[in-house]
Amino acid sequence: MRVADSWKDYRVIATGDGQKLESWAGVKLLRPDPQVIWHTKKDLKEGVDAFYERKEGGGFWNYNKKIPEQWTISWQGLKFVVKPMGFKHTGIFPEQAVNWQMMSKLIKDSGREIKVLNLFAYTGGASVACAKAGAKVTHVDASKGMVERAKENAKLNDLSSIRFIVDDCEKFIQREIRRENFYDAIIMDPPSYGRGPSGEMWKLEDNLADFVELCKKVLSDKPLFVLINSYTTGLQPTVIANILKSVFGNSNVEADEIGLPTDEGLILPCGASGVKLWKN
Ligand SMILES: C[S@@+](CC[C@H](N)C(=O)[O-])C[C@H]1O[C@@H](n2cnc3c(N)ncnc32)[C@H](O)[C@@H]1O
Repeated sequence: MRVADSWKDYRVIATGDGQKLESWAGVKLLRPDPQVIWHTKKDLKEGVDAFYERKEGGGFWNYNKKIPEQWTISWQGLKFVVKPMGFKHTGIFPEQAVNWQMMSKLIKDSGREIKVLNLFAYTGGASVACAKAGAKVTHVDASKGMVERAKENAKLNDLSSIRFIVDDCEKFIQREIRRENFYDAIIMDPPSYGRGPSGEMWKLEDNLADFVELCKKVLSDKPLFVLINSYTTGLQPTVIANILKSVFGNSNVEADEIGLPTDEGLILPCGASGVKLWKN
């Protein structure tokens, strides 16, 4: 398990009975988490600033006190916008700090300009981390709203070099193949289910292996890494490792669960990541 224990501005205070209580730069939010099937003796709602309540087909935030519509949290000099959004999202997946840390080091240690392609890139946590480490980043997401949020995070970190694309990831890769535009590193964090801008269906179990095979065609002849992250419940790290090995060869492939430490001394599991590395 790779644990994102390098946060100062974020922590998981307590967990239990399908809920997690988190502090986002001091603002206490309570959100549902399907992985949390253990119990707690604590009343997690006590002293909480806002909590997300599920209802048929979605849910809504309840506010116990006036909190900013959005605020920022920082991680190792990077700053990100936090904003309670639909589907209990806040705009940042803090556990991804384990991947930001690894990718930043690989890019800095490479001693060369690395072209990074970040797919299903959401609000740009990885795009900001890689660009800050000196990479030339292309950020692709189907949602115009998410790309606008990513631009906000880039601005917050004085970054103007990131290329932002609103498109279906598969369509984008097909076009890059035709254009013979290659990348030294590829990051993908696909949802379990997703839709492209024109309704292109994405279902991880059905599409991931073919999609990784397709991405191989835009990898440069001096690759550095390919990283796959998944939140799909039950998708074992070994499955991600096997996909990477079957497409890029068995050597230098690592995959593991990722998680967050809690103040109770537990680890909150947050999915799995796998990476294929090439000697620089
Ligand atoms: C779980 S989020 C990724 C989280 C992100 N990597 C992070 O750590 O911040 C999945 C993203 O995939 C995008 N998406 C879903 N289907 C897509 C598709 N077919 N093409 C491009 N983006 C898609 C969604 O808009 C969403 O922003």
